[in-house]
Amino acid sequence: MKTCIITGASQGLGRCLAARFAAGGADLALCARNANELSQLATDLQAQYPNITVFWQRCDMSQPADIAQFMQAAIAQARHGIGALINNVGAFELNRAANDPGAELLSRMLSLNLYAAYHSVAAVLPTLLAQQSGHIFNIESIAAIDILDDCAAYSISKRALHAYTQLLRRDLASQHVRVTGVQPGAMLTRSWEGATVPPDKIIPPEEVAELVWQCYQLSDRTVVENIVVRPALP
Ligand SMILES: NC(=O)c1ccc[n+]([C@@H]2O[C@H](COP(=O)([O-])OP(=O)(O)OC[C@H]3O[C@@H](n4cnc5c(N)ncnc54)[C@H](OP(=O)(O)O)[C@@H]3O)[C@@H](O)[C@H]2O)c1
Repeated sequence: MKTCIITGASQGLGRCLAARFAAGGADLALCARNANELSQLATDLQAQYPNITVFWQRCDMSQPADIAQFMQAAIAQARHGIGALINNVGAFELNRAANDPGAELLSRMLSLNLYAAYHSVAAVLPTLLAQQSGHIFNIESIAAIDILDDCAAYSISKRALHAYTQLLRRDLASQHVRVTGVQPGAMLTRSWEGATVPPDKIIPPEEVAELVWQCYQLSDRTVVENIVVRPALP
């Protein structure tokens, strides 16, 4: 099956996406900064699903040169073309809008929450256009829709990613490339370690990964524009 490229794949939602797409039979190309975690994940998935290939490469997605190298290698090793690019990597920090006068935090948020996806898409797009197929998923956040006062830079960056997703979808529709935005609420991942939120008020990331997989499985006549997921309990 075609390769699914997943950024930030060693932990959290990215790891769940890797597991779900592997279970579905997709070849994988994965990246993160921690090579040990990534290589262990690749070994485990490869052992569990011997018919797929799992390519991995250490990559700092805040560095455009790293992104270019990873994407180039991921495309080169794809046996049957590229099926999906899942722009999952992201950063999260709390701040209020007036408390970042030098825009250092905003720059960090934009780097991982917007530019990483932007550069990754630019790198893979020639391949998707040549294939006349492919599916881009941008993992945004509920903060892209409900701007959160305590997550100002994060909300700005995710809202920008949301706009980019919409623009990309319109541009690529006639080229048979589907684009889906994913807007999860709080998911039980490393980001919430130490927080006192009751577990039943946090979404299991495996369920978001399942929704992404189901969208990917739809025929190329159908695109799900947005996947909005919130904890069921208020
Ligand atoms: N968790 C939530 O409540 C929540 C809610 C809404 C949206 N989201 C979004 O969902 C996505 C995944 O979040 P998550 O909670 O699953 O995150 P997570 O558990 O913190 O995992 C982040 C993953 O990205 C990798 N990563 C981090 N910085 C990186 C960098 N500079 N270069 C390459 N890889 C990097 C990490 O591995 P290394 O550290 O080894 O690099 C790890 O594999 C993000 O876009 C996030 O904004 C999360």
